[in-house]
Amino acid sequence: FSSRLVLGIETSCDDTGAAVLDETGSILGESLHSQKEVHLSAGGIIPTVAQHLHRENIQRVVQEALERSGVHPSQLAAVATTVKPGLALSLGIGLEFSQRFVRQHNKPFIPIHHMEAHALTVRMLHPVAFPFLVLLISGGHSLLAVARGVDDFLLLGHTLDEAPGDILDKVARRLSLIKHPQCSTLSGGQAIELLAKNGDRRRVEQGSLLSCVNDLAAATQHTIASHLAKRTHRAILFCKDNGLLPSSTPTLVLSGGVASNQYIRKALTIITETTGLRLLCPPAKFCTDNGVMIAWNGVERLRESKGILPPHVDVRYEPRAP
Ligand code: KG4
Ligand code: ZN
Repeated sequence: FSSRLVLGIETSCDDTGAAVLDETGSILGESLHSQKEVHLSAGGIIPTVAQHLHRENIQRVVQEALERSGVHPSQLAAVATTVKPGLALSLGIGLEFSQRFVRQHNKPFIPIHHMEAHALTVRMLHPVAFPFLVLLISGGHSLLAVARGVDDFLLLGHTLDEAPGDILDKVARRLSLIKHPQCSTLSGGQAIELLAKNGDRRRVEQGSLLSCVNDLAAATQHTIASHLAKRTHRAILFCKDNGLLPSSTPTLVLSGGVASNQYIRKALTIITETTGLRLLCPPAKFCTDNGVMIAWNGVERLRESKGILPPHVDVRYEPRAP
């Protein structure tokens, strides 16, 4: 291998992910174990269950990523792992595994901030220069920030109550969409997006239960989309007034699980088109949690020698990191 290789490990929520990347962002090998089905049938993520499943799968997932890449641990330049924010019990499994791994193979360790990794994944796919505006919308987070550098983020705002994915999941649960014939394997957000296609947000039809559910799905999706569009519009104007974005190709990056929603994307497209910004959104596979985005953040940090620790340093996880 002609460039430095990074192993990335993600266990902050309900996905056990690992990937090996080279310095150019080529994915040499990856593996992902999703706990979605278990949590869907339980009606939500139970932290002890998530922890148990991470513990059961992490060894295999990391080994698979390494084997698929044809890379031996001795060839790695560093190991990057999510240490904040997330579920304490889940973060603990990834961190514990990683610290043992880096000590065993005598490799540098790079602690990763999960949201920063989401924000920078786009740079693995497109040449996006700093600074750019980023909107992250997922099950656990909703935030607007200006990414100014690999370790330099200006937080413009974040949700004061619940993240959009969390709301979609709760509404889906109250509507028992898991029992809906078309939705049994879908996340709350996916189910609502699907049903909203046949719904009307302005009226909740009387009589037919099915179309009533469709209308409620459409209304929920529209309310979230319009709220996000208004806040993003305000953030763009603030950035322009304060010279926070470059005059040539100012960019809004959209990421997180909820970013795969086409209706929400359309609403944000209208905002970026009217304000003269370019809208970039990584493909769904890179918007949700995985080891690739963590490895990429490790690559970016390695390139700039930012936050690289020797293997023996004790690192703590921070569930509520800002
Ligand atoms: O980023 P992610 O995989 O995990 C974290 O929360 O960190 O996001 C998962 C969230 C869930 O709440 C799910 O309902 C939502 O993203 N989601 C969607 C869609 N696909 C997943 N929300 C709206 N539309 C979708 N198509
Ligand atoms: Zn995430």
